[in-house]
Amino acid sequence: EKNGYDHFMLKEIYEQPNVIKDTYRGRLHTDTGLIKMAGVEDNLQKFLNADRILIVACGTSWHAGLVAEYIFEEFTRIPVEVEYASEFRYRNPIINKNDVVIAISQSGETADTLAAIKLAKENGAFVFGVCNVVGSSISRETNAGAYTHAGPEIGVASTKAFTTQITVLTLIALRLANAKGTLTKTDYFRYLQEMELIPQKVEEALQTNDVAKIIASKYKDASNCLYLGRGYNFPVALEGALKLKEISYIHAEGYPAAEMKHGPIALIDEQMPVVIIAPKQEHYDKIVSNIQEIKSRSGKIIAVVTKGDTQVKDLADYVIEIPEVSDALSPLVTTIPLQLLSYHIAVLRECNVDQPRNLAKSVTVE
Ligand code: F6R
Repeated sequence: EKNGYDHFMLKEIYEQPNVIKDTYRGRLHTDTGLIKMAGVEDNLQKFLNADRILIVACGTSWHAGLVAEYIFEEFTRIPVEVEYASEFRYRNPIINKNDVVIAISQSGETADTLAAIKLAKENGAFVFGVCNVVGSSISRETNAGAYTHAGPEIGVASTKAFTTQITVLTLIALRLANAKGTLTKTDYFRYLQEMELIPQKVEEALQTNDVAKIIASKYKDASNCLYLGRGYNFPVALEGALKLKEISYIHAEGYPAAEMKHGPIALIDEQMPVVIIAPKQEHYDKIVSNIQEIKSRSGKIIAVVTKGDTQVKDLADYVIEIPEVSDALSPLVTTIPLQLLSYHIAVLRECNVDQPRNLAKSVTVE
């Protein structure tokens, strides 16, 4: 069942090039410039008339929602808010009839997300689901939806669900951008083409497995770890930290890199590994100066960089090289080495990778 892999988690990490392809197959038509998703097409006016999009989810799915916030706002100029389903449902949220609510859930059974959907529906909002498990409670409770085609995710730590959720959400954002004219034709087509290259780029990112293993052996005994990223890669930092804590039990936190100086920098000393997602992207120079700040406080720097990078390489203790990818689609690629790093650290610490303590695959109680 594990197909020769030691753990389901590793198998699922390696499935990502294929399941990302499965998720856009039949939907993305680069030659004609069309994106076809029945759930979106049937409700196109609702999306186009939305005053805002509210995203509700938990855990890793919430992180995919944060990535989607950046993508939707950039591509469609529709304001987006992302909420923890557990907070949303209990705080008398403002929900209007012209809101579109997107619920994201791998299992489709998460109690808090389900309750948030019911609340949104009671208040007249249109609710769209992004689920992996076909026929799940959330997929039935939502007004419409689009499935991720990740296949069964057995490892408790979510990996391929995350990247396929981002894939579906990116397709929706592109479809709306095309209808609204909020992306130039050139940019629109460039993104369609690049989406088709993502499986290949993820494949290349999987080749960082050996270096991830080396880095893991170096830092496996750390008791804390910081993850930093900017822009589209800030949610990736959160997800990287979540992955590490859930399977290796090392305390980890994700932060936007520029927030460092407002507190977390006090934590930096020679014992502190800092994982920085620093591909060639907008504000690259800013992240370089964030790295310098950490370096001058003797923090240990593990940087995810674009192949051929020299500036960050000169400063970092270890670099993990990934292929070049546009800012908006970069989370699909930058997240891969972070999954591998957590995996190897957890294996070296002899943790139960597929079934971490205290965690369940679907959280059907609140
Ligand atoms: C993280 C993880 C959890 C889930 C969360 C939401 O690796 O497994 O944080 O992401 O419980 O689950 P779904 O997506 O099934 O609603």
